[in-house]
Amino acid sequence: MDPELEKWDVLFTDARLATMVPNGTPYGTLEGMALAVQDGRIAWIGPMAELPHQGAKRLVPLEGRWMTPGLVDCHTHLVHGGNRAAEFELRLTGASYEEIARAGGGIASTVAATRAAEEDSLLDQARPRLEALLAEGVTTVEIKSGYGLSLDEEAKMLRVARRLGGEFPVTVRTSFLGAHALPPEYRDDRAGYVEAVAAMLEPIARAGLADAVDAFCEGIAFTPEECARVFEAAQALGLPVKLHADQLSDTGGAALAARFRALSADHLEYTSHSGVAAMAAAGTVAVILPAAFYTLHETQLPPIQAFRDAGVPMALATDCNPGSAPLTSPLLAMNLACTLFRLTPEEALTGFTRTGAVALGMGASHGTLEVGKAADLAVWQIERPGELAYRLGFNPLAYAIRAGKPRHLPAV
Ligand code: NIG
Ligand code: FE
Repeated sequence: MDPELEKWDVLFTDARLATMVPNGTPYGTLEGMALAVQDGRIAWIGPMAELPHQGAKRLVPLEGRWMTPGLVDCHTHLVHGGNRAAEFELRLTGASYEEIARAGGGIASTVAATRAAEEDSLLDQARPRLEALLAEGVTTVEIKSGYGLSLDEEAKMLRVARRLGGEFPVTVRTSFLGAHALPPEYRDDRAGYVEAVAAMLEPIARAGLADAVDAFCEGIAFTPEECARVFEAAQALGLPVKLHADQLSDTGGAALAARFRALSADHLEYTSHSGVAAMAAAGTVAVILPAAFYTLHETQLPPIQAFRDAGVPMALATDCNPGSAPLTSPLLAMNLACTLFRLTPEEALTGFTRTGAVALGMGASHGTLEVGKAADLAVWQIERPGELAYRLGFNPLAYAIRAGKPRHLPAV
């Protein structure tokens, strides 16, 4: 056999690995390690002293730098038209997010801007936001629809999300969020819109545009019964579900998500202890979104300790959206989660890696440094992993690797 064929594609040497696999040390740390990549997957991990004489087509000495799994941003509304800076200014004069929404602004104004944008324009607008995420080590991103609110407009958003995945070195997972808000043409026909959303699912699924189905369960959005109707339609098509739950009030969203064995329930500031227990029993991940809490001046803290006590895994995400979370920095989301919600930096990084992958149904293939998993990796210029959550507005990423391919070539 050609000896070149037997060589690994890439070999990283002298690495400190935050594997994020529980091994009795914080971050699942392994020091003095080598990690080999073959065909886009992690092929070998072990101490430098045990490195086989296999050789590699490309050798990357890490000189003691830290490597983590590539970051997984499991909740974004990255594709949208326009922005809502004017509402930001309004809120600073005292108007609340809910008042603005009820007056026809909020999500509805982004729906108008998204519908008005051509598909290519939406793509142009989304690119720099995705680039900002990638620059901080994101290798998997979830992107929701929800600003189109008709079959054609929702499909347009999801196509843009798929095109971003084809254009950039990142894995894109899409969620269909038709039940995000009531569109103006259905103002007097809630039941009609819920049925319309349920009917959109089949063509969206047939076109391969949705990996999951999401809904916004809230006083200003949809009732638990309306969300349940959409979830039943999703499950009939074999699509997993997720839910924006208990963000502004306790509507029993967490329990609803649990009833449908949702991959995740997201936000959860107002979730009750019975909601936490239901999520624990169902294995539903809690996605914590501190940027929305911060932006909306929320004061109700999500029940973090109850999630810990009940063993509900917590993921963390940017929630990148034009209204409640105009954030494109996973590192700042980590800092906010630690500072506002008292997550530990290890919980924050776990939320952006291992648990973020679970929240997307990708736990078996992504989110940790383990042999057989995708070689989605991030290399950082840091002394300890806690630095990732510690700073505000500083990016210590050296480079990221996605499916074994370096995105930014290291200067070696
Ligand atoms: O995740 N909560 C609902 N959806 C978004 C906000 C969308 C918007 O304001 O445009 C969220 O916070
Ligand atoms: Fe959201």
